[in-house]
Amino acid sequence: MDSLSTTQSNSERLARAVVERPEAYRVLTGDRPTGPLHLGHYFGSLAERVRLQRLGVEIVVVIADYQVITDRDTAGNVRQNVHEILLDYLAAGLDPEACTIFTHSAVPALNQLMLPFLSLVSEAELHRNPTVKAESAASGRALSGLLLSYPVHQAADILFCQGNVVPVGKDNLPHIELTRLIARRFNERYGEVFRLPEALLSETPELPGLDGRKMSKSYGNGIALRLSAEETAALIRRTPTDSERRISYQPATRPGISALLDTAAVCLGLSPRLLAERLADSGAGKLKELTTEAVNEYFAPLRARRRELAKHPELLSEVLQRGNARANQFAEQTLERVRSAMGMVY
Ligand code: TRP
Repeated sequence: MDSLSTTQSNSERLARAVVERPEAYRVLTGDRPTGPLHLGHYFGSLAERVRLQRLGVEIVVVIADYQVITDRDTAGNVRQNVHEILLDYLAAGLDPEACTIFTHSAVPALNQLMLPFLSLVSEAELHRNPTVKAESAASGRALSGLLLSYPVHQAADILFCQGNVVPVGKDNLPHIELTRLIARRFNERYGEVFRLPEALLSETPELPGLDGRKMSKSYGNGIALRLSAEETAALIRRTPTDSERRISYQPATRPGISALLDTAAVCLGLSPRLLAERLADSGAGKLKELTTEAVNEYFAPLRARRRELAKHPELLSEVLQRGNARANQFAEQTLERVRSAMGMVY
């Protein structure tokens, strides 16, 4: 078995174990606040977090504000972006009473874990990380010290609260591997402090952007959760398609048509191929209409909740303050154990 299929079968085993003993797991996951979340985030991770929360698993979510500056000069309008993401979380059903939502920058003890962790990895190991390589190439700029070392910081995100389940997409798998390596090396060198986290891969196949490329905030090809029904319709109308009347699911040769099929199908709970067969000769116009309706109908309740929540910015600040306070407690406890294991108690 190659390493991805090993990870996949481990992840399936983990998914079953979590259902059986939700109380034995703490989920740690997060997002970079570079813009509002889109359908890819929703089906790839947000819906999964809400499902785990309903099972009774403890959820800790980092809004990774320090990770924004890994591949750009400044954090931009980070405060606004943090609030948008928080609205997306709460509207999707994350319950601030049951989970901890926090930002990196408000938890000093988490950031301090980065120092001992950096001593546990070599420069060559950092350079080997395929996700860092891809991000560095995409950024079109010199590799910064932070971009090279942020996977170590991400290890601190996971280990500061002893998270043992990390729901991620494939591109974050190298970071989980590194986290396990750091935890193992720390335990070997200084004594058992950390448990080893495991990756939980999403079972929904990755939803492509409307142009058929990877859905990404920077390509502007995703449908943001926060859009209105009309904005969604306008965005879908602009999707490049072709003039062939027959609808078929061919991602490589008909990226626009296929992305629309993927989008509508995931909202309707069907397979994209089946949907293509049903649409037969009805043409791209009809497919766009159906996709718009499917998205707008599926997300109507979430969007209504989001609009309501947006009227109460003080509530958002309160949720973050509470989350940050709790995250600081976790982080200080862990840092104390780390310092004491390292003999740094004075
Ligand atoms: N790197 C993650 C992403 O690209 C975001 C993230 C930051 C994260 N810290 C994390 C994910 C810790 C899982 C665990 O979306």
